[in-house]
Amino acid sequence: MAQRSPLISVMAQAADKAARNLIRDFNEVENLQVSRKGTNDFVTAADIRAEQTLKEELARVRPGFGFLLEESGAVKAADGRSRWIVDPLDGTLNFMHSVPQFAISIGVEQDGELIAGIVFDPIKDELFWAEKGRGAFINHRRLRVSARDKLASSLVAHGRPADESPPARERFLTQMNHVLGHTRDLRRMGSASLDLAYVAAGRLDGYWEEGLQPWDIAAGIILVREAGGYLTAVDGSPVDLDRGSVLAGNPHIHGQLHKALAGR
Ligand code: 2AM
Ligand code: CA
Repeated sequence: MAQRSPLISVMAQAADKAARNLIRDFNEVENLQVSRKGTNDFVTAADIRAEQTLKEELARVRPGFGFLLEESGAVKAADGRSRWIVDPLDGTLNFMHSVPQFAISIGVEQDGELIAGIVFDPIKDELFWAEKGRGAFINHRRLRVSARDKLASSLVAHGRPADESPPARERFLTQMNHVLGHTRDLRRMGSASLDLAYVAAGRLDGYWEEGLQPWDIAAGIILVREAGGYLTAVDGSPVDLDRGSVLAGNPHIHGQLHKALAGR
């Protein structure tokens, strides 16, 4: 059985606490669907409440750490070294539509390097976690990326970029066009952190998306790396949290997907 470090334990506890309210709110959204009232404000409130819980819990256990939070921005680290990178609700649109595919994502950066991360799916009660040099896990089981070695038989997830300008749209459609016929099938599941966790778990063979934010991908990046996957930006350059472009896959599929996306 995998032994969680104190760092992973405090992240898991904070996520668990925030998740209790999220689940309650998710059940409430299901009721709201049949009413005419908009669910937007309700979901925004749920999102902010989850972030507040995470912030309080994490600040209490590691007062020296800074934050990068989706809803409330950056807080400088007192120790000048470490920060939490937090998405309290990744997959907001799913949540809003009562689709049970969303997660809490928490990454830890130390001296500019990702050292740990968790992605928690409270509906399926799946905790994906990883620590640099120690491997990736789901609950208490070790994770490995899939062994599938042909893009043609691969299941590949992707996301639509938030940028809806004509050039971004054109670029996305070109990528789709290049990749569609080369994979077994594509999935667009709506939560970047879970997509990356699923690559780590070998459920997906590859994943790409552009226009993401650091909190969408910080935890997922370390999960994929620690599960033996390859990870770059879509253009093949090193992945950069602030550029938000991600291409992930098992070591066989990553290169093939990169080529396919480029139309080669
Ligand atoms: P979110 O649910 O926290 O907004 C969907 O393809 C993925 O893109 C989700 O992980 C979603 O995170 C993320 N995303 C990042 N920025 C977004 C934006 N401006 N609009 C929609 N989704 C965004
Ligand atoms: Ca997100």
